[in-house]
Amino acid sequence: MSEQTAIRWEQDADNIVTLTLDDPNQSANTMNELYGKSMAATVERLEKEKDNIAGVIITSAKKTFFAGGDLRDLLKAKKEDGQVFLDNVTEIKRQLRVLETLGKPVVAAMNGTALGGGLEIALACHHRIAINDKSAQFGLPEVTLGLLPGGGGVTRVVRMLGIQDGLMKVLMQGQRMKADKAQKVGLIDELATDRDDMLAKAREWIKANPKAQQPWDQRGYKIPGGDPKNPKFAVNLPAFPANLKKQIKGANYPAPLAIMSAAVEGAQVDFDNASTIEGRYFVSLVTSQVAKNMITAFFFNLQAINAGASRPKDVPKFRAEKVGVLGAGMMGAGIAYVTARTGSQVVLKDISVENAEKGKDYSRKLLDKEIAKGKMTEEKKEEILARITATADAKDLEGVDFVIEAVFENTELKHKVFQEIEDVVNADAVLGSNTSSLPITGLAKGVKKQDNFIGIHFFSPVDKMPLVEIICGKDTSPEALAKTYDYCQQIKKTPIVVNDARGFFTTRVIGTFANEGIAMLGEGINAQSIEQAAMQAGYPVGTLNLIDEINMETALKIGKAARDDAKREGTELPPEHPAETVMKKMVEELGRPGKLQGKGFYEYPENGKKHLWPGLKDAFGGTTEIPFEDIKERMMFIESIEAVKCFDEGVMDSVADANIGSIFGIGFPAWTGGVMQYINQYEGGLRGFVARAQQLAEKYGERFTPPASLVEKAEKGESYR
Ligand code: NAI
Repeated sequence: MSEQTAIRWEQDADNIVTLTLDDPNQSANTMNELYGKSMAATVERLEKEKDNIAGVIITSAKKTFFAGGDLRDLLKAKKEDGQVFLDNVTEIKRQLRVLETLGKPVVAAMNGTALGGGLEIALACHHRIAINDKSAQFGLPEVTLGLLPGGGGVTRVVRMLGIQDGLMKVLMQGQRMKADKAQKVGLIDELATDRDDMLAKAREWIKANPKAQQPWDQRGYKIPGGDPKNPKFAVNLPAFPANLKKQIKGANYPAPLAIMSAAVEGAQVDFDNASTIEGRYFVSLVTSQVAKNMITAFFFNLQAINAGASRPKDVPKFRAEKVGVLGAGMMGAGIAYVTARTGSQVVLKDISVENAEKGKDYSRKLLDKEIAKGKMTEEKKEEILARITATADAKDLEGVDFVIEAVFENTELKHKVFQEIEDVVNADAVLGSNTSSLPITGLAKGVKKQDNFIGIHFFSPVDKMPLVEIICGKDTSPEALAKTYDYCQQIKKTPIVVNDARGFFTTRVIGTFANEGIAMLGEGINAQSIEQAAMQAGYPVGTLNLIDEINMETALKIGKAARDDAKREGTELPPEHPAETVMKKMVEELGRPGKLQGKGFYEYPENGKKHLWPGLKDAFGGTTEIPFEDIKERMMFIESIEAVKCFDEGVMDSVADANIGSIFGIGFPAWTGGVMQYINQYEGGLRGFVARAQQLAEKYGERFTPPASLVEKAEKGESYR
């Protein structure tokens, strides 16, 4: 019996060798041990037989071209495994280098997705052809997992596209592109209509280029956009680290820094040295905790969510064909846009046709912006807009199978608008509310079919924010949950599922972050330090900035509503948070409720940049000194502790959903891998976290006391999985 191989060799009458990637043990090709062995044997044979070979085509027998490295292996990587990883990538690079310098044309014929390591194989080929199939993706997404493309990706992309374009268009954002976009960027040379066309084009190219060589192996080659020996080019290089640091605001993201260093240092030396430099940076990342956090969240947690881990299994797949959106304000208009954009009919209802039309105009504006960028055609725009019916008439909701309400945050009003349409829409239509804080079970009391009622909480701006928080009320049926899950996936959003409680998961957790920042201001800590600490921790915006956007009047109302509820229901009154004293002073005494009024913690000059209001010093002091690390960790700990309480209270029961919800919904620093992973990997694990929380509780208040469930888990040596 011949030995197993992941690469089939076929040589035709023209002496063109087709190498077909086809791992016999898996549904996709990955960079596993069998691939390594097979590629080593293949390049050895190519070298031996090259005099009888006219050229090489690399393609795949799987649905995708090549899936890249096996991330499960990377999760297991320990600090001391560095050498093993270095040896592995060095061998992969050696094999690709043999292909590239064979002296014969090598063409990548990409029949499907080529991401990461898969694209790196293609980059080592002299010519890249892909089938122009809308579902295939191309790119180097390593940075999004805290890694860098260590199979020659950085070195070749910089040599193909130049430092500027290579970093900005491919390496730093880790964008996954469709074939036509990848061709525009320069990663793909030619597009084909189908497999036959692709292979025919590959043959043609081989025949026309019998002695193909990579540009960087030709004499006189210079990196596009600049010669590293040219003083002008060298002058620009130091600007990269500075600009990047500004972009990531000093937060804990080692991958972009490593990618940039590998690109910039590698551009100043020859190919082989650049490749060695790239290898060293790769190893420093692959053995780091941040990469493990990001792989956990952005690969494994997302995969679980996409596979429907929190969706009831026995409900048939659903597609919302006609969606009713009640309220055409900021949120309703955004929801109408993403729904029409993905193919469904939308009935957008407001109190007047004018209001509804204004909401529809929002879609027109977004589509026009896309047309200006060359990403949309007039024809397609009209097609999308034609799907949106702007109306004030409840009768137009006939035939609707999914309703999303987005009127003002007021229980009576929400009840009223549901009652208007309840008997018009399909009998089994899902009745969803986009409330950001009102308990779903209470809202459901306003409709007849409480089992069809559910919370579907979007984030602003709807077209950009990837998350939707689904909230199940006491009576929500599994059908309504499954349909809502399917609708979220239909509009290309990531759904997390939580149980009912005031503020659900996201609003509740982000509320603690906002309150903590404001409380620190009240303690006399300098406002600038509070904002800087948030940015350095890796939050997208500072606390005071965030609360200005939300508006302090709204924030105070939410706190008051929670207390009113508790009074009514006779439950324990939530204590007044120190942040409320600060906000009351801001609103009532100083008349500065937030951005909407042009006055909050920040000033918003008409022709100038917003900046912290200088009066904060007089109002709150600003000379109290606490360690900078404490400022950062007070924000991260208070959110983590609130997340644990959500588990304790049954609001949340999926670690994957909590991690992804915290990053995508409320900006918890992505390098941590999400709020639960942050607790897991805190120095010393859960025990370390508990000890630090106790210390913060002694210094800053009881709210930092670690919940009993967390202490128990720590004592048992467990973590959140
Ligand atoms: P908005 O004030 O921009 O829009 C509300 C719209 O509802 C207005 O166009 C208004 O004319 C319309 N409306 C009022 N009464 C109506 C009726 N009887 N029938 C039909 N339409 C009616 O409010 P926004 O910001 O869009 O918020 C809507 C809901 O979404 C609220 O429950 C809010 O808490 C929630 N939400 C808001 C987020 C945000 O960032 N603004 C984020 C997530 C949820």
